[in-house]
Amino acid sequence: ADHSYDYDVLIIGAGPGGYVAAIRAAQLGLKVACVESRETLGGTCLNVGCIPSKALLHASELFEEAEGGHFATWGIEAKATFDLKKMMAEKSAAVGDLTGGIEFLFKKNKVTWLKGHAAFEDAHTVKIGDATHTAKDIVIATGSSVTPLPGVEVDNDKKRIVDSTGALDLDEVPEHLVVIGGGVIGLELGSVWRRLGAKVTVVEFLDQLLPGMDGEVRKEAGKIFKKQGMEMMLGHKVTGASVKGKKVTLSVEKSSGGDEQKIEASHVLVSIGRRPNTDGLMLEKAGLKVNNRGQIAIGHDFRTEVENIWAIGDVAPGPMLAHKAEDEGIAVAEFIAGQTGIVNHDVIPNVVYTAPEIAGVGLTQEQAIEAAGGDKAKVKVGKFPMMANSRAKANRDTDGFVKVIADAETDRVLGVWMINTLAGTMIAQAAQAMEFGATSEDIAYTCHAHPTHAEAFKEAAMAVQGKPIHM
Ligand code: FAD
Ligand code: NAI
Repeated sequence: ADHSYDYDVLIIGAGPGGYVAAIRAAQLGLKVACVESRETLGGTCLNVGCIPSKALLHASELFEEAEGGHFATWGIEAKATFDLKKMMAEKSAAVGDLTGGIEFLFKKNKVTWLKGHAAFEDAHTVKIGDATHTAKDIVIATGSSVTPLPGVEVDNDKKRIVDSTGALDLDEVPEHLVVIGGGVIGLELGSVWRRLGAKVTVVEFLDQLLPGMDGEVRKEAGKIFKKQGMEMMLGHKVTGASVKGKKVTLSVEKSSGGDEQKIEASHVLVSIGRRPNTDGLMLEKAGLKVNNRGQIAIGHDFRTEVENIWAIGDVAPGPMLAHKAEDEGIAVAEFIAGQTGIVNHDVIPNVVYTAPEIAGVGLTQEQAIEAAGGDKAKVKVGKFPMMANSRAKANRDTDGFVKVIADAETDRVLGVWMINTLAGTMIAQAAQAMEFGATSEDIAYTCHAHPTHAEAFKEAAMAVQGKPIHM
């Protein structure tokens, strides 16, 4: 260790980016501190993001299945009721197990947790309260928070207009939940409350849900959520809100303007995106500034323009996903320790944990065609519907499809997109195949167990060759 500093590495933020970087840096023999202002470790993901949302998605799905979903299909009669307090308590228990687990890992790996809010003094020094701490290298992993919507002020305490954090902690089922933004959070948390009995209306600015995903997937998702009973107002925006007691009145108009109407809601979820956390970091004292998207710019090795300062996760460019932050956490620690860290940003899976699940990795069909200079003939696509997959059929669970996009000349897989019950798990196979540079033929000639949903991936690859068996 370099004894002129308190630590070899100081990491700001203990989310999936920061805590993973801290553990890997310690494993590599460095003296590590991690600053976190929350009461518990794990960042957005463990405390108010991935984990509590998945817990509530699981619980609400169990309820819906019992209450008339798949149970009824099979002639199984059940009279389901639920205790929201108990459901929330179990969700909190899951969060507690996981955040406690990180604390255990910090102790095990001798990572020092500095509690409080860090701000730069200079490129090697941060201030936490009155104390200063120095480090040879500093990693910024401060994550992101909700993008506010002017005129629609979030107040998680009053629980009328909430963001995702509030929507994970309501103490009653909304009568009418209006979700502003038909992205990942809106659809996941909208699904939770719809399953538990709320009427849900999604107001989405664009003319399709889930921007960034493959066009056919977006269309299909729209149909499925509608069929499930979510009301969709695509191509609309909310321009204002007023709260009176337990009622919220929203002003909604067409995205292009005009046709104003009022919508009454009992609860409103603002989920129009997230933005990087850099307020109060005093970046300028370290010689840093943010780019035009509010992110901290980095090179391929996660190094900022200041040599000893690095940035990873949601605060840096790229998709705001926990696994992206984690992989960058490992890689940045390896770079700092003088090794070469590797993250393949072209192969980062993206999953929406609704029922069915929606997942993708690599290029969308639209992006693949664009990358081929607009020449559609240079891109081959194979699609296989879950309706023709024997396991999905046996399970009476046939919504969705799998789609494989390949380079027409080399047959190399460029992207894989799917909607089906197990898409979140199945996409790992696609990511691995792409990481190994697979062709669609490689996948078509890989033996897949029967009967499994995964066979739909094999058949979609066979469809790229024009030769699926079951369709
Ligand atoms: P964060 O997890 O945001 O952690 C940053 C931490 O830094 C925070 O704990 C913060 O308190 C702390 N901090 C910030 N500034 C300072 C400072 N100056 N001093 C001290 N501490 C500071 N992603 C997925 O991949 N899968 C999912 O299923 C998923 N579900 C989500 C559901 C919801 C409702 C939300 C909101 C997000 C979800 N995400 C999901 C996104 C995921 O949570 C983020 O991509 C991930 O947490 C980013 O990790 P990070 O380490 O960059 O930042
Ligand atoms: P998002 O970017 O996924 O979706 C926001 C949606 O709001 C977009 O469809 C956008 O067109 C729409 N929108 C923007 N302004 C609007 C307006 N004024 N009126 C109506 N609609 C408007 O953002 P979201 O859902 O808030 O999630 C933030 C991020 O958190 C995600 O992008 C993702 O990175 C992460 N996340 C990931 C999850 C996962 O991996 N399963 C789950 C939840 C969040």
